[in-house]
Amino acid sequence: MKISAIGLALIVFATALTLAQSQVSQAGGALAGISPAEFEEFRLGLDDFLEVEAAEEGLGPAFNGTSCAVCHNVPVIGGTGTIAELRAGRRNASGEFETLDGTGETLFHLFSVPGHSCQPILPADATVFARRVPIPLFGAGLVEAIPDETIRALEDPTDRNGDGVSGRAGMVVDVASGEHRVGRFGWKAQHATLLSFSGDAYRNEMGITNDLFPLEAAFGIPADRMRLCDPFPDPEDKPDPRTKRRGIDNFTSFMRLLAPIPRSGVDETARQGEAIFAAIGCTACHVPSLTTGPSSHPVFDRKIVALFSDLLLHEIGTGDGIRQGPAEANEIRTPALWGLRHRRPLLHDGSAGTVEEAIRRHGQEAALARRGFERLSDAEREAVLSFLRTL
Ligand code: HEC
Ligand code: HEC
Repeated sequence: MKISAIGLALIVFATALTLAQSQVSQAGGALAGISPAEFEEFRLGLDDFLEVEAAEEGLGPAFNGTSCAVCHNVPVIGGTGTIAELRAGRRNASGEFETLDGTGETLFHLFSVPGHSCQPILPADATVFARRVPIPLFGAGLVEAIPDETIRALEDPTDRNGDGVSGRAGMVVDVASGEHRVGRFGWKAQHATLLSFSGDAYRNEMGITNDLFPLEAAFGIPADRMRLCDPFPDPEDKPDPRTKRRGIDNFTSFMRLLAPIPRSGVDETARQGEAIFAAIGCTACHVPSLTTGPSSHPVFDRKIVALFSDLLLHEIGTGDGIRQGPAEANEIRTPALWGLRHRRPLLHDGSAGTVEEAIRRHGQEAALARRGFERLSDAEREAVLSFLRTL
């Protein structure tokens, strides 16, 4: 790694975040109970997650960020971030979503490497635009360890129980294993495993091709220009000669071993708020906890994961019109609410500034729950918000 001005700034920034970290009880630390060897893996993973890449190392030609940490750093490394990325497509004559070309890509990169004209060009016929904010990674290894069957047992795509909520699992072919799995990561449930997401993010966010995503994807850059913009042989993510591990393996270790954000102190009002949250139907989608499957690793073995999500796809009227992975144009995967107090703005596109605003935007499948929230007395509504502030 070359320490450029940006790199130096990031190190200063990371140090400041580490200082902030000590005030955010253990946020950003590793799961309790891991072995010293795993802690070392976590630490090396964190190093790679922070590493700022340059064009000679494969960055670009078009990219959204120079390191994973550039977008995952609020309130500490591994969290959410302040960059919203852009996706685009168009609607055809019958109003259905279509991608802009045969590649099926919808991501438009924000930056490009210098030297040639490598900036993606947004086609003039794009009519659907969508922003996406980063999703925090705290507790991601526990989410990964929830069995597919547990998630599928919560599905009710035809609303058999008549509660107006019809979530469905986003089935994907996991790029890393080739298996049919339940997608659970990403706003569109587009990945089932952290290794696959790492490969996707390394290529799509940073332009670094790897074993799982071996071809450059940069919308709007023609093939001949691509050769000038990116003369480096793919895949660009090579195993470290000493550790034999690829960047995508290191990112995966860091995220898998990253602990969830602990809940803050729960008082009587918050306890009442939690009961109201369940009574008005928020828990139909924000399921308080799921349990990991049996594992030979004690840290992942049948653990209660208090994430407040069913990990299913729903239409609640906030959809962004982009069909992606297993998700229809207006479906969004229920976001986990753990760590909510450290996360602003809210909703997939960052369009809600406060928790209350995010709740008031719930419609369609969540209309009943939203009405329940609106009909609460001021004291009850305050209790729900007080409960959400403990997450
Ligand atoms: C330019 C900003 C940016 C960069 C750089 C970035 N991410 Fe992200 N990350 C995002 C956004 C935005 C999302 C939500 C994407 C979506 O679902 O559309 C996300 C989502 C994720 C998720 C899904 C988490 C969940 O629980 O659903 C994982 C895992 C992830 N990123 C890992 C990484 C890794 C590893 C890197 C570095 C290789 C990285 N990200 C680099 C912006 C970024
Ligand atoms: C039908 C399923 C469903 C129900 C019921 C539901 N939600 Fe949600 N909730 C979602 C989905 C899906 C999103 C993400 C929407 C988006 O990003 O566009 C969301 C987002 C949120 C967010 C923002 C989280 C973030 O990270 O951006 C909060 C807060 C929230 N819901 C609270 C509630 C509360 C409180 C209730 C009960 C009044 C409730 N939800 C009921 C599905 C549901």
